[in-house]
Amino acid sequence: SKEGYTHFMLKEIHESPIAVKDTISGFLNDMETVKEVAEEIRRANRIIVIAAGTSYHAGLYFSLLLNRKGYTAIPLIASEYYNIKLSKNDIVLAISQSGETLDVKMGIKKFKEEGAKIVSLTNVIESHIARESNYKLYMRAGPEIGVAATKTFTSQLASLLFLYSVIERESVDYLEKAHEVVRNVITETEGLAKKFGEELAKKSNIYYLGRGLGVPLAMEGALKIKEIAYIHAEAYPAGESKHGPIALVEKGFPVVFINYGELDDELEKNLQEMKARFAITYSISVNKKLNFSDFEILVNADERLSALAIAPIIQMIAYYAAVKRGYDPDKPRNLAKTVTVE
Ligand code: F6R
Repeated sequence: SKEGYTHFMLKEIHESPIAVKDTISGFLNDMETVKEVAEEIRRANRIIVIAAGTSYHAGLYFSLLLNRKGYTAIPLIASEYYNIKLSKNDIVLAISQSGETLDVKMGIKKFKEEGAKIVSLTNVIESHIARESNYKLYMRAGPEIGVAATKTFTSQLASLLFLYSVIERESVDYLEKAHEVVRNVITETEGLAKKFGEELAKKSNIYYLGRGLGVPLAMEGALKIKEIAYIHAEAYPAGESKHGPIALVEKGFPVVFINYGELDDELEKNLQEMKARFAITYSISVNKKLNFSDFEILVNADERLSALAIAPIIQMIAYYAAVKRGYDPDKPRNLAKTVTVE
């Protein structure tokens, strides 16, 4: 039941803190598997991270974290699995909330034939993808009814941060507070996210820009608003503006900046470029705001938890944009919760 919420999506966003808490406890209780996976990843030649949609964005985020430390992680959109030939020293990480996405299954099948070991991160125990893998990591986000992934995305990010810290032999203590950060962010920003969503609801095109670790979150923000509010949105790394996309910007064009809390001086310049073309700028910032943004949401959080702070905000923005436009966010047209067809 929706327990008093108007939609499952909003209920599930509000369940994100508990989903993250349970997921982290689950990882702590299965430290043995996490350590084995970490060891496999440290030993691997390359780490192929295969996933679709929202799960791909979590995979891209994880790949960026690893690549910054000198690993070779390749984020791979599941339906493009045929583009990579594996060797025995490569390892595959399959990320799938449902554990049933056909494109991910097909990629796993090919990579197994090529001799690679498979690690899976799913939310469904003994799903197909979990069964097919050598190492099974589970989120404990609970069932997600809304078609749009919300609490499962935030839980994927928490799981992958956990795994990353173990790979790097860092303490995971900071993650025990992660659910509190998520809860505070939801409480503190829901009103502003509603305002952002209702403003954006009037638009027909939006850019979502970020830099560094903010890029996958910008991509997720754009996907969500397309998926449930039916507003065309595009995300790209902010530095690319002058290489083409800024040509589209005219007076009133909305640009949402995901200010992850790193590279903020560069992002600030990108914001100025947009404002010089009379764009309307919206920023979502962790710890330090962007100057001169027309609208802003600022949250404070441990910088290692920035992604977990931003995720519920972009989801709430999309939710309130959809509701404002009169659409049912739980049942977006043309979409199924689990994509088991090609
Ligand atoms: C978007 C969304 C989809 C899924 C994608 C993969 O909100 O939910 O993009 O993320 O279909 O699904 P899973 O994670 O089940 O493999």
